[in-house]
Amino acid sequence: MCGIVGYIGKREKKEIILNGLKELEYRGYDSAGLAVLKDSEIVHFKAVGKLDNLKEKTKDFKSDGSGLAIGHTRWATHGKPTELNAHPHLGKFSYVIHNGIIENYQELKKELQEKGAVFVSQTDSEVIVHLFEENLKNSKPFEAFEKTIKSLKGAYAILLITKANPDKIFFAKNLVPLIVGKNSQDEIFFSSSDAPLINLAEDVIYLNDLDYGYAKKGKIKLFSNGKNKNLEFKKLSVSKLSAQKEGFRFFMEKEIYEQSAVSSETIMGRINENDIILENIEDDFFEDIREITICACGTSYHAALTASYLLERISKIKTTVEIASEFRYKEPLLLKDTLFIVISQSGETADTLQALKMAKNAGLKTLSICNVDNSSIVRLSDKTLLTRAGIEKGVASTKAFTTQVLLLWILSLKIALLKKEIDKDFFKKEVENISKVPTVLKVDEKLHEKIRRLSKRYLHGHGFFFIGRDIFYPLSLEGALKLKEISYLHAEGYPAGEMKHGPIALADSKLFTIALMPKSLLYDKVKSNVEELSARDATILALSPLEFEIADDFIKTKGYDHPMLEFFEMTVILQLLSLEISVRLGNDVDMPRNLAKSVTVE
Ligand code: AGP
Repeated sequence: MCGIVGYIGKREKKEIILNGLKELEYRGYDSAGLAVLKDSEIVHFKAVGKLDNLKEKTKDFKSDGSGLAIGHTRWATHGKPTELNAHPHLGKFSYVIHNGIIENYQELKKELQEKGAVFVSQTDSEVIVHLFEENLKNSKPFEAFEKTIKSLKGAYAILLITKANPDKIFFAKNLVPLIVGKNSQDEIFFSSSDAPLINLAEDVIYLNDLDYGYAKKGKIKLFSNGKNKNLEFKKLSVSKLSAQKEGFRFFMEKEIYEQSAVSSETIMGRINENDIILENIEDDFFEDIREITICACGTSYHAALTASYLLERISKIKTTVEIASEFRYKEPLLLKDTLFIVISQSGETADTLQALKMAKNAGLKTLSICNVDNSSIVRLSDKTLLTRAGIEKGVASTKAFTTQVLLLWILSLKIALLKKEIDKDFFKKEVENISKVPTVLKVDEKLHEKIRRLSKRYLHGHGFFFIGRDIFYPLSLEGALKLKEISYLHAEGYPAGEMKHGPIALADSKLFTIALMPKSLLYDKVKSNVEELSARDATILALSPLEFEIADDFIKTKGYDHPMLEFFEMTVILQLLSLEISVRLGNDVDMPRNLAKSVTVE
């Protein structure tokens, strides 16, 4: 995780760095820091906590005119969120910022300490700057940097500046994203993602793994494996991503309310009465596919699980779902006639990206369901379907989830059509139901108010179980994850029918059970499971269109006839419930503790 930015040019450098870091703060907010190199002098600032603390510290600092600057926002991996562990890390006359994990840092550190280097932080990153200065004893600056990179094992996006070569930023990238951009005023920019570059850079290069080089005013030199590489710039084609709260209290709240609008975008141009049109994917892409494996993390994994029910039920295709971090090391059997789908909001999740690489190396067809165009996952996969949810700022994913599920529903129908598993009438009805999703996702403000009042009761207790069956089981996992992330209360998602095999032992009045009881799917089965819990005094909050007297609290849903519509309606309710519980607890809804939006470490 962590976000990094760099700038070479004449503008007020502090502002460019701070604005860039603001866009990247979702990647980590344990600490932030910046360094400016001008006239062979380096000035640096660091602050623990959110970026505003760094802003405050630098408020009287001016940095216009020639020179260069680097900045970093941290999500702690090695060492606590302290000022000493904040980036940039300092050598005697050089400064480095780093995103990723240097896996061999302990052995490198030991060797450097034996040679007299003094380490002040607990981070893996500090080793880079000391190693560079050690190499500089016998080499010119760029050679020293090249040697340094060669010694590193692991994931890195690195920017390094040094008084030994004060007009350059040295950079390197492996396994985590780094973009370099330029414009016609000879300014050069670096960033972990597109967003900070908008309105600044005109052309960009998304660096490949093991790329490294240096940049100085108006000039970029790129290398890989000791060889000079051509600069292949792309136009920066992203519109202004910098989302605003637009009157909502939190980004998460705004994003919940946005789901109705963005789901229309997800559908747009992709369905008609007779067919599904998936842009840039020819029908023959799906030929000869006998199985599907879907791989993802967190909320995206829950979307994958939901899709597995749809793909098996509608498309009649065997579907396996894998947690990316488990998949990577289980030595999975990758059979050639498997379509490998990865799902990721950010397109940068390290585990998902590595799983995708494994599938590609094994020669599988790959498809990504992603929200961020040009992200590493999009660039690597054979085909991509974009969820079109717009930038998601809240760390707790909401609109990314609903658009992923919606798109996977559309994809299931496409595969079913191609395999001739469904008839025209079924398809027509499904398409009608898909077009209803934007209406279903519209937030009913009265319902929101009811949830706000209800949330008071659910602040204390010894834990939550979210239970459901079939597609409502992955939804129960997602409901529990949302609550955990932003309220810090213990919650589990469980298949309703599985409670009696153990977890029911926990039932008492302080165990809160959120029961997902759709009328269109296995209602009676879930009802019996909830009754079993109620008989053991568990406090029940039931979500259902059908009255359920024994529930302690009841949210009456609209009672759509299609399980997917009930699914989307309940998704919004669960999102609002965790939002309101978190607000009552006084937590930071958009930037919950210990988390980051984009998880680029494994
Ligand atoms: C969701 O609320 C989480 N913050 C997290 O689980 C997230 O879904 C996960 O890290 C995967 O991210 P991705 O979709 O960007 O790959």
